[in-house]
Amino acid sequence: MPPTLRSRRNNNADSAHPRVVEVDTDEEAEITRATAQQQERNKTEKSGTANGKKTKVYKTDADDDSDEEDRFISVLDVIRVIFTLVMLSVGLSYYVTAGESYIWGFEKDRPWWMRYNDVKQFLKGPVNLTPSELALYNGSDPSLPLYLAINGTIIDVSANPGIYGPGGGYHFFVGHDASRAFVTGCFQEDLTHDMRGVEEMYIPIEDDDSSHREQRLTKGEKQRRREKELIEAQEKVQAQLGHWVNFFSNHKKYFAVGKVIAEDDEHLEKRDLCEGAQHNRPRRSELNSQL
Ligand code: HEM
Repeated sequence: MPPTLRSRRNNNADSAHPRVVEVDTDEEAEITRATAQQQERNKTEKSGTANGKKTKVYKTDADDDSDEEDRFISVLDVIRVIFTLVMLSVGLSYYVTAGESYIWGFEKDRPWWMRYNDVKQFLKGPVNLTPSELALYNGSDPSLPLYLAINGTIIDVSANPGIYGPGGGYHFFVGHDASRAFVTGCFQEDLTHDMRGVEEMYIPIEDDDSSHREQRLTKGEKQRRREKELIEAQEKVQAQLGHWVNFFSNHKKYFAVGKVIAEDDEHLEKRDLCEGAQHNRPRRSELNSQL
């Protein structure tokens, strides 16, 4: 039978004759407290080994609580890690791109709705102009923005007055759609959107008809070659124009504002290839010599 609170065994007592002692109430409370503490210690006692010696580590309720917390990653920890990773990426991108970009050049491929100017323009609504209205935006009136057009799209290039403003190296591009000049490079003669016949600049000049190689070809073979070269030339024109269209539409400072209202100029006479482009055309004799 467990000893009652009102009795305890004397250490020196004869086990056959246990001595019963009276305890007062204060002592009883103290005993209860001490017993409870000892039980608690026994429960949480943990053995460990340090420096080859066996040591005892006592864990309290408070330790248990902090262990519980350690096991969970707080929201603040997650935010700290994300923030650190973002800062590392920004710094590394800035370093790797030599100060060009904080986001690994991603801004160049941003869709239009991620560009401030494009969104602003979208909210304002498109500015569609006739060729004569567009001509007003050529920098002669300083209160108006600088607009150029390419492939029918009007681009605001006011961010670069040094290049497109009066006296700028590419001032001739503003105030009209000069798509043809973007392909031929003839900045005086070809400031027009009329692209008819431009592909000729990539089609070889037939200057080798008397050669043995050319004489061996039948009329049909020459015709098929011609057709193939025409298709390739048209693709090159589109690629060259596309290059500049992309340049302006993806530029971080320029933005599209609207479209040129096309005028019916189909009746206009087909233009000759400008001198510079004609001069640079490939020659059949050169191509044959490379075969
Ligand atoms: C088809 C021929 C060419 C076209 C369509 C063309 C077009 C352009 C355009 C639109 C720009 C302005 C880029 C911007 O807005 O930042 C530019 C800049 C420039 N181009 Fe050309 N270009 C051509 C050929 C050349 C050639 C042959 C040279 C060299 C002799 C040249 C030298 C330059 C230079 C130095 C700049 C920078 C101007 C500056 O930042 O002030 N371009 N080009």
